[in-house]
Amino acid sequence: MAILPITVLGQPILRQETTRVPAVTDELRRLADDMIETMRAAEGVGLAAPQVGRSEALCVVEVGEQLFTLFNPEIIERKGKIKWEEGCLSIPDVYGWVERSQWVKVRAMDRDGATIEVEGTELLAVCLQHEIDHLHGKLFLDHLSFLKRRAALATWEEERTKYPDGLRILTPGTGPAERAPDAAD
Ligand code: NI
Repeated sequence: MAILPITVLGQPILRQETTRVPAVTDELRRLADDMIETMRAAEGVGLAAPQVGRSEALCVVEVGEQLFTLFNPEIIERKGKIKWEEGCLSIPDVYGWVERSQWVKVRAMDRDGATIEVEGTELLAVCLQHEIDHLHGKLFLDHLSFLKRRAALATWEEERTKYPDGLRILTPGTGPAERAPDAAD
């Protein structure tokens, strides 16, 4: 397994629609494993393929003991509303409160190519929605009001100078945390 460089805001791939995966290959399973290792190194709770420079509809999500590898995930049901403070491994040190569905049901293909359904509430629901957004070129910033987005982008203008190549390179266990939203300081 390998820790992959993470694309940061400004890289066009983060704004592009991904491509559905017709079948899960060994290469894609290796990619998913590398994404899991990268997510853990960054202390994140989710990671989507465009964040490692890939265009497949693939994301990984890890909340508590639950780890999911999801190909072609789609939200098929949603209920309720919740507000959560989100960050993104591709926009380090920028956070914002986003309103999302409180509960979602997602249909996807797992790493064996089987169709699965995942239900999540609260942090898991937020994370599933955030990662699925990535697969459609959408970022949490897009959910913020005009003024809050402008403030977040002003913060990012300073932060982005740390990533002159548009890439965030992690080493094991040293990544600044994508704040777990329940660990607000
Ligand atoms: Ni993100």
